[in-house]
Amino acid sequence: FNKNYPFYTSSSKSMILHFKKYAKWIKKKLKKNASILEIGSNDGTFLQNFKNYFHIGFEPSKSVHDVAIKRNVKSINKFFNLQNINFLIKKKIKFDVIVGSNVICHIPNQNNLIKTMLKLLKENGKIIFEEPYLGSMYKKISYDQIYDEHIFIFSVNAINKISKLFDLELIDVLEQNTHGGSMRYVVGRKNVRTVSKNVENILKREKNLGQDTLESCIKFKLNCEISKKKLVEKIQSIKSRGKKIAGYAATSKSTTVLNYCDIGTNYIDCIFDTTKEKIGKYSPGKHIPIISYDSFYNQLPDYAYLFAWNHKEEIFKKEKEFINKGGRWISHVDI
Ligand code: TMP
Repeated sequence: FNKNYPFYTSSSKSMILHFKKYAKWIKKKLKKNASILEIGSNDGTFLQNFKNYFHIGFEPSKSVHDVAIKRNVKSINKFFNLQNINFLIKKKIKFDVIVGSNVICHIPNQNNLIKTMLKLLKENGKIIFEEPYLGSMYKKISYDQIYDEHIFIFSVNAINKISKLFDLELIDVLEQNTHGGSMRYVVGRKNVRTVSKNVENILKREKNLGQDTLESCIKFKLNCEISKKKLVEKIQSIKSRGKKIAGYAATSKSTTVLNYCDIGTNYIDCIFDTTKEKIGKYSPGKHIPIISYDSFYNQLPDYAYLFAWNHKEEIFKKEKEFINKGGRWISHVDI
């Protein structure tokens, strides 16, 4: 998270729509004078839906913060931590809702994070966050969810336990399709709100699956090894037929796949991406050149490796021409 952070939430149309719907869902239960704070507010894609509310976003990366400011979103170009919220504490400002999306799992010190949130949360306030879900990762064998910034992959059981440690209560959970399978968590102070049946249901499901056991971890590891073997065999077979493979979207997740499966320029010529900051650079570790998506149709590969598989609906819709021209998609997860 730095001045040139290259991930813009608004680079995906489906994410813009998701955050619009998400905001609508939150607003249904908010009073007109309610206040909302977002941790890791990126380019303001979510908070721009709250311009009529008292809102503040904390965004440490200048590149995306600048875009949020242009969108008239109140963005603070700082990390969300005890030191940087001092100005709010001095003014005795507290919030009805504290939101974070795909950011809570990025923060190494969860204790400090929760303590900081609690300083700003009203007595009956809610902490709402969406993060990639452990259950989906196990099911899809999407081991590429594990990468540098993803320090944690949460389960409902884990969030339930962490909440209790801070006199908080998990009051609702809602499954989401975003980011290849996520969970939305709603947490409040203990005994303030009624707990939704969803919490008990999903806790029960996780228990029945043995999701929190060592056996599940070991099974996942074996599944990853099988997935790797299958993928490398598939790619080798494509290459043995003299076909060209290119990557589609230089995602953070792709770093894990390429390095874990030892796939470099011997198999994949280049990766096409739409983000200007990534063009002209190389994939970490395997050094596959990242080139502008603008030249995708001029340098059409026979196979495109869909690294952004979590955006497949949006991408398949927009790339019908690739299929019409004889192109094929591949990935390590079912697409
Ligand atoms: P992420 O999965 O690490 O968030 O990265 C998403 C990357 O995918 C980002 O660099 C933009 C790129 N991308 C495309 O190149 N084309 C697309 O259609 C979409 C949705 C994303």
